[in-house]
This record gives sequence, C-alpha cells and structure tokens, in this order.
Amino acid sequence: MLLQVPDVLTADQVASCRKTLEAAEWVDGRITAGHQSARAKNNLQLREDVDEAKQLGDAILVALESNPLFMSAALPLKVFPPLFNRYQDGQSFGNHVDNAIRQVAGTPHRVRTDLSATLFFSNPDEYDGGELIVEDTYGVHSVKLPAGHLILYPASSVHHVRPVTRGVRFASFFWIQSMVRDDGERTLLFDLDVAIQRLMNDAPDHRSVVELTSLYHNLLRRWADT
Ligand code: NI
Repeated sequence: MLLQVPDVLTADQVASCRKTLEAAEWVDGRITAGHQSARAKNNLQLREDVDEAKQLGDAILVALESNPLFMSAALPLKVFPPLFNRYQDGQSFGNHVDNAIRQVAGTPHRVRTDLSATLFFSNPDEYDGGELIVEDTYGVHSVKLPAGHLILYPASSVHHVRPVTRGVRFASFFWIQSMVRDDGERTLLFDLDVAIQRLMNDAPDHRSVVELTSLYHNLLRRWADT
C-alpha cells in the first residue's frame, strides 16, 4: 500500500521544525546506510544522537499517535525514532531497498521495517527535483508532498530520490514495524476500517456496523502480533 497521510503536522509545527533544521549541523548521510545503499546515497543527515533530532523526532511520534489515518493504515507496533535528511546541489539517493532490520542506536532494540515513511518539511515550490520514486507491484509512483504531509509505503519496495537541482529538500524518514507484518493483510484491514467508518457516519444504526466491526477485530486478532 502506498498512502498519503495529509497534515501530520500543522503549519506552525512545520515552521518551528524548519527553524531547528536550518540551524542544525548536518553530516554525510552515509552514516546510517547499509552496504548497498551507501553506494547510492548522496545527501546530508542529522546525527541520531543530537538533541534536535530527538526533540523533533518525539514531536513527530506524538503527532502520529493521534493521527487516525496513520494508525489505521500502519497498525504500528514499533516506530523507529525519526531521522532527518537534507538534499541540495544535485544530491540524490539512487535505487535501493531499506534494510529489513534496524537497530535503534545506543539501545538493544530492533525494528523490523514493514513500512517506510517520509514526512516532508519543504514545500514542492521550494525545490526542483527531489521526488521520491517508489516501485511496487502496481508500477512506478512519483511522490512530492506539501510540508507536513507524510507518505507511507512498503519497506520492501525499491525506491530512490531524484536529484534536487534547485533549493533545499528537508524531510524526516523512518520505519514502522506493524502489528500486521503482511502488506496484503494490512491493506485488507485498512480498507475494511475505512468502509466501517463511512457506514458509521452515514448509517450509525445499521445492524451491519456491529457485524463488520466484529469481523474487523476477528481478522486483526488472527493476523496481529503484539
Ligand atoms: Ni530508502
């Protein structure tokens, strides 16, 4: 599933994060890359252990927890502490896949990367290029969203970021270990949840609301790990 989650952050939150990001110290992005992806990667990143990264990352996690669309689509078990990158002057990230398992730096915790997420901190008119290109079974998708919006896509997909030829592209990126590991099963649950929500809005007293909600939870119970 490839899903846009709009307005994860408010305009005020984006503006405040941008101030922090613009003043931060940036280092070579290859510090967190795996073997293959280090060859393809050319960008800048915040170090994971700096205060700015932790503070902004925590704000993102809080926003996600109260975002019903994100929660319904990702069914998160663990979210990797958000990382931050910056592309400018022709920088890009060639075709790669994300590592299946990520260790949270300085901890014994590991996250299986079921879903990848990119949260945009620059608006599309601030830079040229910089599209996130995701290849899945349905084809090739080009993603460039307004600041504060997030894209969720299967971490199993091959993807790349096109060169940024003007301006600066700031973003946060991270991974989610879902309670439902399989993308197909998770997508079925999401589609069912969306349909139930719509039915509850349109016909809250319809007897199918209870039956379908029961079906949702019984499927979740069958497929979820906690
Ligand atoms: Ni990637």
